[in-house]
Amino acid sequence: MTTDLVQHDLIRPSEVTLRDTNTTRTPRFSKLFGGWVSQDMAMDLGTANTLVYIKGKGIVLNEPSVVAVQEEDGRAVAVGKAAKDMYGKTSKKIRCVRPMKDGVIADFEITHLMIKDFITRVSTRWQLRRPRLVVSIPSGVTMVEKRAVIDAALASGARQIHLIEEPMAAAIGSGMPVTECGGNMIVDIGGGTTEVAVISMGSTVYSESVRIAGDEMDEAIENFIRRAFNLQVGIFEAERIKITIGSAMPMSETREIKIFGRDLATGVPREMVIDDAIVRRALKEPVTAIVEAVHRALERTSPELAEDIIGKGIYLAGGGALLAGLPERLSLETSIRFLRAANPLTAIVRGTGTVLEDFKEMRHVCIA
Ligand SMILES: Nc1ncnc2c1ncn2[C@@H]1O[C@H](COP(=O)(O)OP(=O)(O)OP(=O)(O)O)[C@@H](O)[C@H]1O
Ligand SMILES: [Mg+2]
Repeated sequence: MTTDLVQHDLIRPSEVTLRDTNTTRTPRFSKLFGGWVSQDMAMDLGTANTLVYIKGKGIVLNEPSVVAVQEEDGRAVAVGKAAKDMYGKTSKKIRCVRPMKDGVIADFEITHLMIKDFITRVSTRWQLRRPRLVVSIPSGVTMVEKRAVIDAALASGARQIHLIEEPMAAAIGSGMPVTECGGNMIVDIGGGTTEVAVISMGSTVYSESVRIAGDEMDEAIENFIRRAFNLQVGIFEAERIKITIGSAMPMSETREIKIFGRDLATGVPREMVIDDAIVRRALKEPVTAIVEAVHRALERTSPELAEDIIGKGIYLAGGGALLAGLPERLSLETSIRFLRAANPLTAIVRGTGTVLEDFKEMRHVCIA
């Protein structure tokens, strides 16, 4: 099963952290040991974006999870941003594919091609050989889905694989004291899944993964505009609308955007202006589903843990956390403080990287 590209990436090159070697070891040390000595890597294999972190270096790769595949022989002609940039511009001989859907592998072969390309790229650049890999996966996945990630990573050249649940990684990346005795609640809103989890003493006490996140928001906007205005906008356009004027509650000022699509009555291109109130109506269902998932988690949390959570506030990570007004809306609905992680799009891989940096001490937060 293959998932055709439905969404464009949002990663800006400025978000990629390429730490200088000299900040972690001296040139002389590096010279002595013939380049990089670390062979450990963390990977956030996401529905929308894949990020790689190397121990001691930080984030070294941040690319859309997209592959351009040649129909004839199934070869990957481009992977990541280069593949995404080809979307809508290729002949039928090349298909742009997003091989991950709802946080899990939807197309094993293409995911394998993608991971292999990313691992090869960073291994070559940083002189790594058969790295140990810690990969973050959604909390609600089946054994088969876990196995697929392990197999794809092993087939791509990794020596050893460890898995960590995304909410755990997100909480660590958000700076929450997950190993201490006390409740921490994290909400990770990605492209494919929203995960809500309560963590205490390095273990997940409660977690729920719903397959409603950024992609569903884009689809909701696309469907709403088609029904309301007889205008078909592309999924890229829907995402642009969401990012530019989307919100989870009324804003202090009205915001407008000029949108482009195809008039379904005449078949010709048309442009029009819509405002944030329209986009909010379009986003009502997916946003409500996220609010409900948070409510369910709070209902199922013991009063003792709830007390800690109320004191610390609830953290939001993942790209969906950037939706305007979302922390405020959640705070209003629950009377609890919600805070955005410092950089929601990189919080998960930074959290997994933190585990990698002190693997002996932290490996217990990984799953078996
Ligand atoms: N400013 C913004 N406002 C709203 N949504 C945004 C914003 N920036 C990014 N997003 C959305 O964030 C999502 C991507 O987030 P992220 O990279 O965390 O997902 P992912 O990790 O690839 O997916 P998953 O964890 O579900 O597998 C996309 O749906 C994107 O449209
Ligand atoms: Mg994610």
